[in-house]
Amino acid sequence: MSQEYETLIVEQEGSVAVIQINRPKALNAINTQVLIDLEAAMRAIHADSSVKAVVLTGAGEKSFVAGADIAEMSDFTPLDGVDFGNRGQRVFGLIANGPKPVIAAVNGFALGGGTELALACDFIYASEKAIFGLPEITLGINPGFGGTQRLPRAVGQKMAMELVLTGDKVDAAEALRIGLANKVCPPEELLAAAKKTAAKIASYGARAVTFAKENVNHSTEWELERGLAVEVRVFGVLCSTHDKAEGMKAFLEKRKPEFKDY
Ligand code: CAA
Repeated sequence: MSQEYETLIVEQEGSVAVIQINRPKALNAINTQVLIDLEAAMRAIHADSSVKAVVLTGAGEKSFVAGADIAEMSDFTPLDGVDFGNRGQRVFGLIANGPKPVIAAVNGFALGGGTELALACDFIYASEKAIFGLPEITLGINPGFGGTQRLPRAVGQKMAMELVLTGDKVDAAEALRIGLANKVCPPEELLAAAKKTAAKIASYGARAVTFAKENVNHSTEWELERGLAVEVRVFGVLCSTHDKAEGMKAFLEKRKPEFKDY
């Protein structure tokens, strides 16, 4: 966790890693370097057993991520677009499908790739100042980092369709109402709220957390019978762990469990 990144600030507090996207002059827009750094940071976090949960936010007070970098994209050939989109989808996939929970703390603008990055996280806490939206249509393009796929899964197909086709922005209260954000906080309380929830999840057994995340993700990807069949087997596997024995013993002995992540 001691690694330095050109476009990220990564810090560890206890078992929670906090990643800030740090390009404030471009409102933290995602260019290729951000994707390279984010991929490296997520892989390092996945390999580090001392990190059990992640909070992802934007540096500064104004923006989470104002989208993919329009200056960089303005010269793209079609194949550049495919390569950039594939890289973004791969990195966002590491967040969405990786073993560790990731909470988006959306502190300001989350437009285009910013909303897509937040959607790739496991859930979203938003500042009262947060603004979400997929304005790609206003630039003559489509979302390319998963917006047309993850937004409908989050808020339903009709609501997502309207947002994708109009490019309209929604504020934090509307994001909460449509189920995009889980919680809205005053700006000065956002990071603390996200870290507190991350620390709570990090206090549980890591295997149970990872399997639970996988199972919930299956619910939007798989048909019900397949998801249920996998869930029951995972339940059985977890019954073999130290943490299951300890968690239940601690409950019966009316004390706090000491999970060991195996
Ligand atoms: N890419 C590159 N630079 C960006 C940027 C972006 N997405 N968003 C903002 N910036 C830059 C601006 O160019 C500006 O730079 P200069 O100071 O050098 O001129 C700086 O950040 C500050 O921005 P503004 O002056 O525009 O700030 P504002 O407060 O007036 O407006 C905003 C803020 C509403 C977020 C506005 O900047 C904006 O609309 N940004 C673009 C949002 C957008 O369209 N995002 C989608 C990108 S496409 C995408 O993401 C594709 C994909 O899915 C892969």
